[in-house]
Amino acid sequence: MSEKVVSDYNGYDYKKIFWEDADREYEDQADRMAIRKLLPKRMERFADIGGGYGRLANEYLKRAHKVFIFDYSKTELKQAKEIYGDRIETKAGDIYKLPFRDNELDGLMMVRVTHHLEYLDKALAELYRVLKPGGVAVIEVANKRTLPKMVRFAFGKSKVNPFDKTVANYKEISAGGFFNYHPKYVEEIFSKTGFKIERVLSVSNFRSRGLKKIFGTKNLVKMENGAQQMLAPIRFAPSIYYKLRKPEE
Ligand SMILES: C[S@@+](CC[C@H](N)C(=O)[O-])C[C@H]1O[C@@H](n2cnc3c(N)ncnc32)[C@H](O)[C@@H]1O
Repeated sequence: MSEKVVSDYNGYDYKKIFWEDADREYEDQADRMAIRKLLPKRMERFADIGGGYGRLANEYLKRAHKVFIFDYSKTELKQAKEIYGDRIETKAGDIYKLPFRDNELDGLMMVRVTHHLEYLDKALAELYRVLKPGGVAVIEVANKRTLPKMVRFAFGKSKVNPFDKTVANYKEISAGGFFNYHPKYVEEIFSKTGFKIERVLSVSNFRSRGLKKIFGTKNLVKMENGAQQMLAPIRFAPSIYYKLRKPEE
């Protein structure tokens, strides 16, 4: 394994343990809603980067002629192949050295991956390289500046200051750590890399066990739909989605 891969999903049943056996219907629906709003309707060559077992594949299979699912984990890719067969092509490798040519793709997305990346700038440079001019990248970023994190910091329950722009590394969560980002920090990297931000959404705004109990998943999903755009200007949620474009040359 490359020393830069901090989370190895080989041998881990992410599909069953993280999604099917857990109460995450709301989070799953929130991701899908955002992707539908941001991904172009028609693409020639598209890749789901860190796509795992292809949880979100139904959101892009109809929009793209050729679909790749790229991931480090062979366990995830094997599951993806079992589910989607010839409708996808899987590619294994490390995000810091993507197995795509320069300007090869006209669309890509990367969801729930940034929290595993120690070198976000390098990963984004790779995404930029493989995207063709005019191409679109939909990227989800794990946000450190959320309301619960502000409250925890204010009451001394966490040392991570959600207001400063440095990357938060929650070492206690897993051996390698878990990264969260300040939106301004990420947006500066997008800009340095060359990406233009076209749209921002605040996603999974009501991610809380308590709220699920009070309102129920169905109602939270309805509330989420309006909140994604409304709360985007303040980058409120634990997931911030960006629609980025590589400018035409
Ligand atoms: C939380 S899962 C998200 C999977 C999928 N995008 C989704 O939303 O269901 C994170 C995925 O990123 C992959 N990953 C983490 N670091 C990686 C790296 N350096 N290169 C390639 N894949 C990586 C993991 O193997 C895992 O499948």
